This record gives sequence, C-alpha cells and structure tokens, in this order.
Amino acid sequence: MRTYYIAGNWKMHKTRAEAAELAGALVSQLKDGKHKYLVAPAFTSLETVGAIIRGTNILLGAQNCAPEEQGAHTGEVSVLQLKDLGVQAVILGHSERRHTYKEDDELINRKVKLALQHHLEVILCVGELLAEREAGKAEQVCETQTVKGLAGVSATDLSRVTIAYEPVWAIGTGKTATPEDADAIHASIRGVVGKLYGAKAAGDIIIQYGGSVKPDNAALLMAKENIDGALVGGAALKPETFVPIAKFS
Ligand code: 13P
Repeated sequence: MRTYYIAGNWKMHKTRAEAAELAGALVSQLKDGKHKYLVAPAFTSLETVGAIIRGTNILLGAQNCAPEEQGAHTGEVSVLQLKDLGVQAVILGHSERRHTYKEDDELINRKVKLALQHHLEVILCVGELLAEREAGKAEQVCETQTVKGLAGVSATDLSRVTIAYEPVWAIGTGKTATPEDADAIHASIRGVVGKLYGAKAAGDIIIQYGGSVKPDNAALLMAKENIDGALVGGAALKPETFVPIAKFS
C-alpha cells in the first residue's frame, strides 16, 4: 500500500516571519492529518521552519542542492549544510531548475545520487513542455527524465525516491492535466520504474502530481490509481488552500 504524500513547494516566497506563521498554522491544522507531509521553504527559512515542525508529522524539505559536497561553488548550497539544518528531503529537477536555470539530466542525476548517498529523501521532478505534449512526446520526455535522473541509483536507495510528475504547462497557470491524462503519464512512469527495478519497486514508488493542484481538484486527481499525492506550489502558500489539499478525502 502506498501512502499519500502531499508536499508544499514554497519556491522563492516568504520572509522568515511569514514562513514561521505558515509553518505554525500547518503544524496545528495537520496534526490529525492521515498522510505524509512535507514543506520546502526557501533556504533562508529552513532553520526557522525546521525548529517549528521538528517532531511533528511534517518533514522539512529543501528545493535544490549542489552536485558537490563542498568547495569553491559561489552561491550554491551543499547537502552537508542542508543536513546540518535538519533537512530530510530535497526536491531535484524541478522544471524551474531545468528550464530557467538550464539544469540538464546529467546534473540532476549527480544531485540525486549525492543526496541519496547522504541519506536524504529525494523528490525527483519530471514533466513535459506544452510543445512536447502537443507533439505527442509527453510519455517519452518523462521516461527519459526518469531513466536519466535515476541512473546509478540502487534499488535500496530508490525506496527514498518519490517522483513528481509536473507538466510544465500546468505549473502556475491554473491549467491542470485532467485526472485521466495525469494518471496515464503516472502509469507510464511506474512502468519505467518497473523496467528498471522490477514490479515490487514499481508498485511501491510514490508518484506525486504537480501543476495547479487546488482544493477543488485534489480529490479527483488523487482518486486515480497511479496518483499518490501532490507537489503543490501556489496553493501551498496559505493554510486555507494547503490544508484542504493535505486532508483531501
Ligand atoms: P503550482 O501549484 O503553483 O502550479 O506549482 C506547482 C509546482 O511547481 C510545485 O513544485
């Protein structure tokens, strides 16, 4: 049985005071929540939010990390520094990293392997551009990103990987993939994991959907067989919108 896993990606939003207010509200409103939860604040708020959610049912996530442990890498943040702040998971390969900051599959794979080597959980994001979907290439793009993102990851380490399918055209646009379209891609990604790691791993891996998830579409998406949770952007910034998604029924 896979657990539903709802994660909030706060992106480049919130000062420490604002992040603390949101984290405090989530702690009290999700304490009776039944699913797995994570929040990923900006680096600058990790320590503040970490102190508020420590010991609760909400995990602390980062939104990125460097592909090296340490060294002369101006502006980067190391996995060692994240662990020092109590970070438990890291989002890698987000479409904003891939497309705005030109991260490729090889770089993302190095980050995935390094984070896993340091015993963090990883949320590996995959997803196609609108032009790729219109050209009928959505499955193929997600397969390539999954295979390359997971290259060299052992079956044991895979148990700490979640995949997030985030069609780029649905992120921050108010357009959501239909539950049927999303489920078809999730099934195809699960098939890819099966080819790489076998049927048990394919059955166990959690695949989140991301892209304009809101309180009014969360339950419909999560009702689909292959959709095991959500990676939420805009709606994760307020308890009024994140809590109903996190407690969907
Ligand atoms: P939105 O929920 O704002 O579309 O963002 C999705 C996302 O990119 C989460 O990582």
